[in-house]
Amino acid sequence: MKKFYITTAIDYMNGKPHIGHAYEKIATDIINRHFKQRGLETFFLTGSDEHGIKIEKTAQELGKRPKQLCDENSDSFKEEWAKIGVNYDRYIRTTDEDHKEVVQYIFKTLMDKGDIYKASYTGLYCSGCESFLSQRDLTEDGLCPDHQKKPQEVKEENYFFKLSKYKQAIIDRIKNNPNFILPEYRANEVLNQLENTEDISVSRSINSVTWGIPVPGDDSQIIYVWIDALSNYLTGVGYRHNNELFNKFWPADVHIIGKDILKFHSIYWIGILMAMGIELPECIHAHGWITVEETKMSKSLGNVLPPDFIMQEFDLEIPDAERYFLMSAAPYGKDINYSTDDFKNKVNADLANNLGNLLNRSLSMLVKYFNGEITQDAVTDKNCELASLCDETQKKVLESFDDYKISEAIESVVSLVNATNKYVNDTAPWSLAKEETTLIECAKVLYTVLETMRFVSILLYPVIPNISQNIWSQLSLEGNISEQTWESLKWNGLKAGKIASKETVNPVFLRLDSELAGDKKKK
Ligand code: ME8
Ligand code: MG
Repeated sequence: MKKFYITTAIDYMNGKPHIGHAYEKIATDIINRHFKQRGLETFFLTGSDEHGIKIEKTAQELGKRPKQLCDENSDSFKEEWAKIGVNYDRYIRTTDEDHKEVVQYIFKTLMDKGDIYKASYTGLYCSGCESFLSQRDLTEDGLCPDHQKKPQEVKEENYFFKLSKYKQAIIDRIKNNPNFILPEYRANEVLNQLENTEDISVSRSINSVTWGIPVPGDDSQIIYVWIDALSNYLTGVGYRHNNELFNKFWPADVHIIGKDILKFHSIYWIGILMAMGIELPECIHAHGWITVEETKMSKSLGNVLPPDFIMQEFDLEIPDAERYFLMSAAPYGKDINYSTDDFKNKVNADLANNLGNLLNRSLSMLVKYFNGEITQDAVTDKNCELASLCDETQKKVLESFDDYKISEAIESVVSLVNATNKYVNDTAPWSLAKEETTLIECAKVLYTVLETMRFVSILLYPVIPNISQNIWSQLSLEGNISEQTWESLKWNGLKAGKIASKETVNPVFLRLDSELAGDKKKK
């Protein structure tokens, strides 16, 4: 069985989860569910980044121990992931014992090899980035461009990783593998950054940070966050602690991350793996930045929104509409903006009208004209137009997911739904039902539509798992939709028999009432 190993960035535990974190986890969850449907054995890793100055300082301000802060915050993250349907296989914490062992092992191995050495260093350190910046990284006013803060000048003895030794190999890797960095247009950005890449500091003096994993054999130094954080991708899948798991799943098929940390993944991480002689990941996919009503979220602006805020805003019990909107609002990789109006328009149009009404009216007609029964002679064969379109859509979805283009996959299914609506309007089954002679035509039309809905439910399941399950159940199909594989995407999956009655036909997604939503916002 082919395997698929996918990871997210691990989130900093100095604050609560927000919609930006959620966007990434939802995207990863969708890709993971899709590849599972295709019959791959999948492993989905997410977790938290718990060491470093930012967390130490935040804990201090709150009068907590750093571990206590991380325990509380990681619980909040996990709770949010459960609410929005993010189904991971392991939630790794960089304070986990197996991880500490792995990090120290990597550090020691590189030291023994001469790829980590000690040197005196004066640098500009931004505690927001947990990173040294060079003059050319700064704004005209000498500020960190991401945090708008003046970096501190720090002089200390540090351990350095000989990243420069691997520079050419990293360049070659990127140039020879067009899919290594996605979207493709980001590869050039990384190649430019590589031109200026020097050896990197990988430890900090105990005088500036104590919350972290000590350098093996040197208690005066703490392993600095990026080696600690990046190695989670190895620990998470059993490196040094579960060989069977590790051998099955490593290398990662894709690291899903935000564009702000692409450099660390495509340069530092790849350099570390090369130095360790460990196989490289297949792909690093950088997603865009999410804004809400066109404003950047930040703690200082006080507009950081929680992962489920859209569900809260509209009093939604299931995360499907939120997942659907976030993933279709912009092509994967580009920046995304959430606005209440766009959200309402999009999900009302796609989920309530086009998808929901289609199912509802076709099932209602089946109940009204045929007592909810599909007769054997209504079962259409796979040469009909919609069957071919289902086939084509399935291929398009597959190709889109091969490049992790979620919005493109969604668009293909939306086109199929639109074509099905057009088919219903063109064939007018309500007219066909009026004459005894055309009744069989009517039955065939309804079968064709409902069988197409079965395809749609499977194809959209990774994005809208609850709505898809609801469609699946209303079609009286057996089993749970989460267990359906790509194999079930064959025409005539829907069999003859009674599948619906007046009581079983329900709207799968109610139109969002604009006035109600407006009232809630004022409160
Ligand atoms: O960077 N829109 O942690 P983090 C979209 N611990 N994505 C966003 C976002 C936004 N507004 N804000 C953050 C870290 N993210 C490190 C990662 S990985 C070995 C270590 C994304 O909590 C961000 O791009 O600052 C990153 O991928 C993830 O959330 C965690 O961000
Ligand atoms: Mg960040």
